Amino acid sequence: MTQVSTVLLAIEDEVEWSGVNALLTDDLGYRVIVALTVKKALTLIEDANIDLVISETQIEGEDALNILRQCRVSCPNAMRLLVKGENDDVVWKHEAAELAAIYQFIRKPLDVEQIGLVVKRALEARELARRHRMISRELKLNDESPLFDTKPMGQFVRESSNFEKLVYISESMSELCGLAKQAAATDLPILIQGDTGTGKELLARAIHFNSNRTQSPLLTQNCGGMSDELLQSELFGHKRGAFTGAISERLGLFGASDGGTVFLDEISEVSSSFQVSLLRFLQEGEVKPLGCDRASFCDVRIIAASNKRLDDMVERGEFRRDLYFRLKGFELSVPPLRERTDDIAVLTEFFMRKYSESTGVKVLGISNDVLERLIHYQFPGNVRELENEVRRMVALARDGEYLTARHLSPEILAITPKKPPPESAASLAIEGKTLKQKVESLEKMLVVDALARHRWNQSEVARELGLSRVGLANKIKRYEIQHIV
Ligand SMILES: Nc1ncnc2c1ncn2[C@@H]1O[C@H](COP(=O)(O)OP(=O)(O)OP(=O)(O)O)[C@@H](O)[C@H]1O
Ligand SMILES: [Mg+2]
Repeated sequence: MTQVSTVLLAIEDEVEWSGVNALLTDDLGYRVIVALTVKKALTLIEDANIDLVISETQIEGEDALNILRQCRVSCPNAMRLLVKGENDDVVWKHEAAELAAIYQFIRKPLDVEQIGLVVKRALEARELARRHRMISRELKLNDESPLFDTKPMGQFVRESSNFEKLVYISESMSELCGLAKQAAATDLPILIQGDTGTGKELLARAIHFNSNRTQSPLLTQNCGGMSDELLQSELFGHKRGAFTGAISERLGLFGASDGGTVFLDEISEVSSSFQVSLLRFLQEGEVKPLGCDRASFCDVRIIAASNKRLDDMVERGEFRRDLYFRLKGFELSVPPLRERTDDIAVLTEFFMRKYSESTGVKVLGISNDVLERLIHYQFPGNVRELENEVRRMVALARDGEYLTARHLSPEILAITPKKPPPESAASLAIEGKTLKQKVESLEKMLVVDALARHRWNQSEVARELGLSRVGLANKIKRYEIQHIV
């Protein structure tokens, strides 16, 4: 493997720098590129991948601050150090230094050891800033506020701090969330399975924020389409020079979320060799960064998600059985939206309010016709598709309007809600002579009607009628009700 080191750009025009360059290169292992002219410095800033710039205040008689300001624009993550001459204070402009965002001044005469130390600390500060950005993004920490302001830091904005953020009314989702709450209270790994857009990630977030790990980070890694090396480095970290492009040391997600949770999305996509590394981590909690001999230990809970059924993949020999068993400390399956049509109305209402508020368009409500069509649509993209549909409808609506069929997208507009089956309540007349017979006839009509409306979803019918599932099954048998499709 090619060893790639941290790249420093030294902008200088004097021989007195030779000692500094020797220390930075030979003792500290950095790659130092020297620019003796303004033109060369500007070219390098544009073309080379610079990690740190160290510059004199004057180069070829020109103010070097201009170069550093340009550097701030072209490679904003590079640290900038300025070496001031003994008489420089006279020409010094403080605002100009602010504009170039100088990290540190160093005074002449050059002290080789001091420069080495300042460079090292500057690069550490850069790595910390990178980790801070990464964690802030995940925690939705308000990153707008300056890091070292005297005002209090931005507050935590938790998008899904509880299960209530998952909108549902169906029995299947209530059962699932009940199980998820139990799982949240443990430290076991959790495997969430379900079709695309069903809300797996939202559920993972809800679990984290309902666990006792909520004070530590929740970090997400999508495992799809990543090479082993990259995934290994993202999760376990790497030492400087561990592989091509590893220009600085990097803490992996497992290390960065110590005490918290790592959400591994699309877990079905990892290679068989990566499955071995993951298994070792799950068994021992051991983290060994790439290019490093020493292992450290992390306390991280894993929540993994997959669109594909891992048990099927295990049967086909495409996924390790031992890893599958390790991952499913708790196994949660999110049902597709078409199997919980009860949720469609509440979700539609929720998204309508959400997008009405965010766009400022005051939508009054939704017509029954639209709801009927949504309920009968299959939603291959599940909740995500419903959300996009409602967002689109709100965008097309005007202030003070109802959402009607004219706002629907063509695929859903094409849906014709099914006509009630012939044996509906309306087509039956109360039969029988005695009161008992009439009551039974009426009961049969009500059961038939409810079954038709819920498309023979017996759990939902039993709930509506206040019966147990067994009670309902008995009535279907007793009245010989046929399932007509
Ligand atoms: N029960 C729910 N209540 C409110 N919003 C939901 C619900 N389920 C899903 N969503 C929303 O639907 C969108 C898709 O959800 P999410 O990303 O969690 O799905 P996913 O299963 O992880 O999808 P994929 O398999 O494609 O990664 C998100 O915007 C999410 O907020
Ligand atoms: Mg997802």
